[in-house]
Amino acid sequence: MKCVDDFRWRLGKKELVPIMIGGMGVDISTAELSLVSARLGGVGHISDAMVPTVSDRRFKTGFVREKQKKYKYNVANRDKSDVKFDLVRLAEATRLHVGRTMEAKQGDGLIFINCMEKLTMGNPHETLRVRLSAAMDGGIDGITLSAGLHLGSLALVQDHPRFRDVRFGIIVSSLRALVLFLRKSARLNRLPDYIIVEGPLAGGHLGFGMDWTQYDLKTIVAEVRQYLVQEELDIPLIAAGGIFTGTDAVEFLETGVAAVQVATRFTITKECGLPDKVKQEYFKAREEDIEVNLISPTGYPMRMLKNSPAIGAGIRPNCEAYGYLLDGSGNCAYIEAYNRELDKHPDGQAISVRDKTCLCTHMRNYDCWTCGQYTYRLKDTTRRRPDGSYEILDADHVFRDYLYSVDHRVKLPEDGEQANLAQEKSRLGSF
Ligand SMILES: Cc1cc2nc3c(=O)[nH]c(=O)nc-3n(C[C@H](O)[C@H](O)[C@H](O)COP(=O)(O)O)c2cc1C
Repeated sequence: MKCVDDFRWRLGKKELVPIMIGGMGVDISTAELSLVSARLGGVGHISDAMVPTVSDRRFKTGFVREKQKKYKYNVANRDKSDVKFDLVRLAEATRLHVGRTMEAKQGDGLIFINCMEKLTMGNPHETLRVRLSAAMDGGIDGITLSAGLHLGSLALVQDHPRFRDVRFGIIVSSLRALVLFLRKSARLNRLPDYIIVEGPLAGGHLGFGMDWTQYDLKTIVAEVRQYLVQEELDIPLIAAGGIFTGTDAVEFLETGVAAVQVATRFTITKECGLPDKVKQEYFKAREEDIEVNLISPTGYPMRMLKNSPAIGAGIRPNCEAYGYLLDGSGNCAYIEAYNRELDKHPDGQAISVRDKTCLCTHMRNYDCWTCGQYTYRLKDTTRRRPDGSYEILDADHVFRDYLYSVDHRVKLPEDGEQANLAQEKSRLGSF
């Protein structure tokens, strides 16, 4: 019986273990988590969502304070069109986050950054150009384009000296979206180096409508594969969304898929950025506690735990500090929804906004508990402590479980194993 470790895939000259840990913003897929994957020969992702905020937390910089101070005068103003990112500062924050992560890399794997087009940041093109360029300057191994069609993204950085050396990939949920992207990239003579097909069971934003139950990852992967064969395009294909056991992964690898991208299993690891209290919420979740809703201002459906504090909260938009979802005119669907409720309750008391959420603030505070569909199975991947809480795992343990598991078995942590892994980690040195 085969296990994931029987497979390898090639990305250019590099041979890799076929496991990618997916990008999870905002700093849920931390540098530390991505480094585990790289150390074990796979691919890890950091995320470029709200990097100034992440940098402040990680390196004690003051990017958010600085921006907030600059736009303080605008806090009570409904019009947010004045609020812009300082592109020099944005580049600095990105180079810092990426650069420090790359300096700490060990092992034969790679570290990529997940870059969401939907983070329009008040100036969609220029902020995206800066984020992509700065990540390349910072030495990133690869860039995964996500949450959008990215029809103009490659062109933004075509003059960057690393344009042909950094690996570019795209996440799609349909053949249609892929074909549009390939047409654009063919014009630049810069086809993607890998393609991630993400199905409807994934966490974060979904590339499907509310009819997501009608779709199935295996079917979409097969369609995309057939298209690539027919077009004689030799681009590694990666499957993502609901791949919960090593055996699930093997089933994809045996059909010719190069690798799998996984995320949910790592949300309850020590290296994941979610606070421990939130990790316990993920463990506790039952199937009926998970929903796909439309409260993200991006317009994409998003999967989350129904008890996320972000749902129904009515906080004042905090665009002066954050503002990652402002479009080029300074609009965000949450601001509109909030102002509508404010008109009903002009004293600003007891406001609840149910149809949209202030995603920036809630993601920043880990109050929007986005998750994959199989989050309800996480409790079966660990042991329960005498006080009823669940044992948080080492990412190393989960990665190896994917590598060696057969027969859909999930290996529980053994006595002393976590301590041994911690010892090994300290021997390798933390960053
Ligand atoms: C908590 C969480 C946050 C996520 N955030 C992002 C994100 O910021 N950008 C993105 O492209 N995908 C995001 N995803 C999707 C993952 O990168 C991945 O493709 C998918 O969840 C894999 O399916 P699995 O979680 O069932 O393993 C997120 C997933 C989770 C669980």
